[in-house]
Amino acid sequence: MIVTTLSLALCGLVGVTEAFGPAARSIVHSTILERTDQLNAEYDYVIVGGGTAGLTVADRLTASGQRSVLVIELGVFQNGTFVTTAGTGYQGLFDPNIQQLFPSEPQTELNGRVADVRVGKMLGGSSGMNGLQVHRGQKEDYNRWASYFPGNSGSGWNWNNMLPYFKKAWNFHPPSSELIAENNIAYDPQYWGTTSNIHASWPTEMWPFVKTELAAIREIPGVQSPPDSGAGLPGAFWYPASVDPSNMLRSFARPGHWDGIEAARSNYHTITGQRVLKVNFNNKKAAGVSFVPAEATSAANALTVKAKKEVIMAAGTIHTPKILQASGIGAKALLQAANIPRVVDLPGVGANFQDHPFQVGPSFLLTDFPFFPDPNLFFTNATFTAEAQAEFDAYRTGPLTIASGNAAAFLSMPVIAPTDFATIAAAYEAQNPASYLPPGTDPTVVRGYNAQKKALAKAMRSTGSAFYNFFVRGTASEPGPILLHPLSRGTVTIDITDPYFALPKVDYRALTNPADGDLIVAFTRFTRRLFTTTSLAQYAPVETVPGANVTAPADIIAEVRGRLVPTSFHPVGTAAMMPKNMGGVVDRDLLVYGVKKLSVVDASVIPDLPGAYTQQTVYAIAEKAADLILARA
Ligand SMILES: Cc1cc2nc3c(=O)[nH]c(=O)nc-3n(C[C@H](O)[C@H](O)[C@H](O)COP(=O)(O)OP(=O)(O)OC[C@H]3O[C@@H](n4cnc5c(N)ncnc54)[C@H](O)[C@@H]3O)c2cc1C
Ligand SMILES: *[C@@H]1O[C@H](CO)[C@@H](O)[C@H](O)[C@H]1NC(C)=O
Ligand SMILES: *[C@@H]1O[C@H](CO)[C@@H](O)[C@H](O)[C@H]1NC(C)=O
Ligand SMILES: *[C@@H]1O[C@H](CO)[C@@H](O)[C@H](O)[C@H]1NC(C)=O
Repeated sequence: MIVTTLSLALCGLVGVTEAFGPAARSIVHSTILERTDQLNAEYDYVIVGGGTAGLTVADRLTASGQRSVLVIELGVFQNGTFVTTAGTGYQGLFDPNIQQLFPSEPQTELNGRVADVRVGKMLGGSSGMNGLQVHRGQKEDYNRWASYFPGNSGSGWNWNNMLPYFKKAWNFHPPSSELIAENNIAYDPQYWGTTSNIHASWPTEMWPFVKTELAAIREIPGVQSPPDSGAGLPGAFWYPASVDPSNMLRSFARPGHWDGIEAARSNYHTITGQRVLKVNFNNKKAAGVSFVPAEATSAANALTVKAKKEVIMAAGTIHTPKILQASGIGAKALLQAANIPRVVDLPGVGANFQDHPFQVGPSFLLTDFPFFPDPNLFFTNATFTAEAQAEFDAYRTGPLTIASGNAAAFLSMPVIAPTDFATIAAAYEAQNPASYLPPGTDPTVVRGYNAQKKALAKAMRSTGSAFYNFFVRGTASEPGPILLHPLSRGTVTIDITDPYFALPKVDYRALTNPADGDLIVAFTRFTRRLFTTTSLAQYAPVETVPGANVTAPADIIAEVRGRLVPTSFHPVGTAAMMPKNMGGVVDRDLLVYGVKKLSVVDASVIPDLPGAYTQQTVYAIAEKAADLILARA
């Protein structure tokens, strides 16, 4: 198994595992249905999954009071304090009641190791347990998605047309003047909105080493300092966290798009602890869904509910493709093998799976580290932790307001590999697109990957697209970098022996494309340059892994195979928004090809990863999805 501590380091986890502080606010809600017999027989919309996207869409669809919505969520209504706490925001990582955590398929290119699959399972979904980091991809990411549709027809998804949805999705609160003065933080409110109930805000103080580290990164030629983290540009920059500044607690889809709403909207029902097994069709029109209690192991007593206007899939990148396949929407051969009656042969379902590989380069320890305090004290110093806790409880200030971090480098290939990027891009571009996809990949999926390949090779040559991400936590032992645009593609499929109840088979297929190895070698060389040729050198860096003597490309890649974590918890792509003849699953209106009245609104529609973590983009997609759905009502 992949060691969990690596995952912890990724999101700057602090080591406080106890339930936290004073009681959270009490939560006003009314119409969580306690029993399935309270359900109406029919709703205008049935939303599968009450997660990040699902609750955002449900809020917008019910706002006018004119349309009825049922949200069906597998997980619980979790209102414990630990899921809402900023400073200890990652405590959810330890709670089996609010997540699914299960093994991936063995990773052939990672020495057969098995990795974690981890997704939120509660009202609020993964937004209720994520690392709270709020950044947006580059302009070029969204323009690339739009480019997959012919002519100008995908332009609804380009940067200019997504920007209003980023603004609608996020309520930005500027940092305090003290924090700005102390840390030289740049921000520009023109990239943000002020009305959403999803908040992006700042801690009351910052670890002292962060600004030093950012300044060192900016010594590298070509590293930009964009005017704001939301400007859509690479560089080394500060960004906010998904924290509600009124109480310094986690801001996520449940408090932002659900608490207090249901009481006022009789058109809005939620039921928790229920597993949707499949979408039901009537003449290739989605008619509703079948579901059972979360603990059921048989479909014998499954209930059905009807959707008058639309069934909306929001079960996330891991479960949306599974439910589609179990409903008869997927690759013909898979459906046959599982004995599932076919509704549409749609080979893109569960293909094109991507996540951000983590620890793809070396790690360093600064052996002469004159900074106090730093985030690792939460692991090592009980006095510090107790003092921080007391300060947070009394005043909502101090180190515990620093969620998991607020600064990072997002750097382009020309900046990190000025002499090699063109060669790496050319080698990748020259690949046969089918060569490294799973054997037997449908030609439409290959065609889609070929389009991604061309676009990503172009992105490699651009100073406007970030490939390299270095998370600046402000400690002496930072984790290795993240690869923002992996070139390997994985799969998510039903278990054909038990399509409805068994966990899906998740294969990251990490490093199956050798071009990812070329990027890793470039990342390794750059990270060494960063620590040994900038002002970071004065803190006596020692390379902890793989070790400075590991320099030949083959040796670097061999070492990384033993250590790379194939997920940063940012899975996307399994119901891609691409043309149908390019392996797409949904069109640019997010409607599933080949059937009527069925849409997907979650992270699975993302055709290829943005150069950023995914929550900000998922909320923006959901806001746009709600507008698209309302427009066709
Ligand atoms: C541990 C972790 C850390 C992360 N850190 C960050 C970060 O710091 N910054 C960032 O930007 N992003 C981060 N992310 C990613 C981000 O949170 C996700 O991309 C985003 O929340 C995904 O939203 P979604 O709506 O696609 O899916 P989710 O929010 O996961 O929602 C899917 C919902 O569907 C439900 N469901 C599944 N199957 C069924 C079924 N059969 N029936 C009914 N309901 C079902 C699930 O229980 C879940 O509630 C992190 C994610 C995780 C898990
Ligand atoms: C949490 O939910 C339970 C059940 O709905 C309720 O009894 C309790 O008061 C809630 N706690 C808070 C802090 O809102
Ligand atoms: C632990 O934290 C306390 C309180 O901040 C501090 O006074 C002390 O020096 C720290 N000890 C170490 C070993 O860092
Ligand atoms: C690097 O040095 C370590 C420790 O001396 C050794 O175990 C390892 O084999 C060396 N690796 C290479 C590629 O030389």
